[in-house]
Amino acid sequence: MMSLAWLLFRVTEQAALAAWPQIGCGDKNKIDGLAVAAMREALNDIAFQGRVVIGEGEIDRAPMLWIGEQVGTGVGPEVDIAVDPIEGTRMVAMGQSNALAVMAFAPRGTLLHAPDMYMKKLVVNRRAQGAIDLALPLADNLRNVAQALDKPLERLRMATLDKPRLRPAIEEATRLGVKVFALPDGDVAASVLTCREENLYDLMFTLGGAPEGVISACAVKALDGDMQVELVDFCQAKGESVENRRIADSERRRCAAMNVEVNRVYSRDQLVASREILFCATGVTGGELLNGIRQGADGLRTQTLLIGGADRTCNIIDSLHSW
Ligand code: FBP
Repeated sequence: MMSLAWLLFRVTEQAALAAWPQIGCGDKNKIDGLAVAAMREALNDIAFQGRVVIGEGEIDRAPMLWIGEQVGTGVGPEVDIAVDPIEGTRMVAMGQSNALAVMAFAPRGTLLHAPDMYMKKLVVNRRAQGAIDLALPLADNLRNVAQALDKPLERLRMATLDKPRLRPAIEEATRLGVKVFALPDGDVAASVLTCREENLYDLMFTLGGAPEGVISACAVKALDGDMQVELVDFCQAKGESVENRRIADSERRRCAAMNVEVNRVYSRDQLVASREILFCATGVTGGELLNGIRQGADGLRTQTLLIGGADRTCNIIDSLHSW
């Protein structure tokens, strides 16, 4: 696996570079399409047997690296891949910060295989290992994490997404005095930042995409953080309606076919069973985690975060792509 590390970061670089000319174009599907094509081409150049186990595209019908797709040259290690060619397509389309091209690799059979649907996620850093239980109410988790970190609730910092479905969670946390950072999009970056030593956030609680959850779990495990998740159907995330019920029923059928359960709590190690993980993210637009792509006289500069689970390495790679 580790021999793939230096090939992997080129893949997210290529996806980010493909999206970059379209920053601010307003068309998120176009951006996703360009990044997907670049990511697929770069993956197909690598000597490995890759299989996409969780990826994007079903919920918003965006162009996709589809679940089950085989990539690579067909020789070499057998690898499971979780992909999100652009994490934050809306941010790229609107010229906003924090968008990444991101993916994770793990040995075959070790990543949770699930449909692209909503997922409830709770992440903490290594100092709060074992303090979370998604089966308990959010307030109990906030109290338990604060106790594990030995700080009052008023000093606890919770990252989440600024979405209507998360309003009740935001209100509950602020009522307890917790400081809430409600980001417009991007829970992969928020998960990584929760686990990093600088501890920008103490925990992350969101209801976001399942692919982003599995990708995040790879970084969380490599950084010794803790995480629990629960797959949530479309009606639970977006409210009851005839159309939402149709989507929710189809999600439940796909879950049954993939042998995963809606509303069951999965631990970090059930999401990612191996430590032989590689997580890789390249900044498209700049944010707290990574710089975005910058244009200079000599070419384009990218910044990539490469995390290896087996040897617990964390590299920031600055590349110059000359004209
Ligand atoms: P994409 O751009 O890949 O769709 O993801 C952005 C994101 O904010 C994720 O970080 C999050 O998990 C998900 O969208 C939330 O879903 P929604 O956009 O439906 O609110």
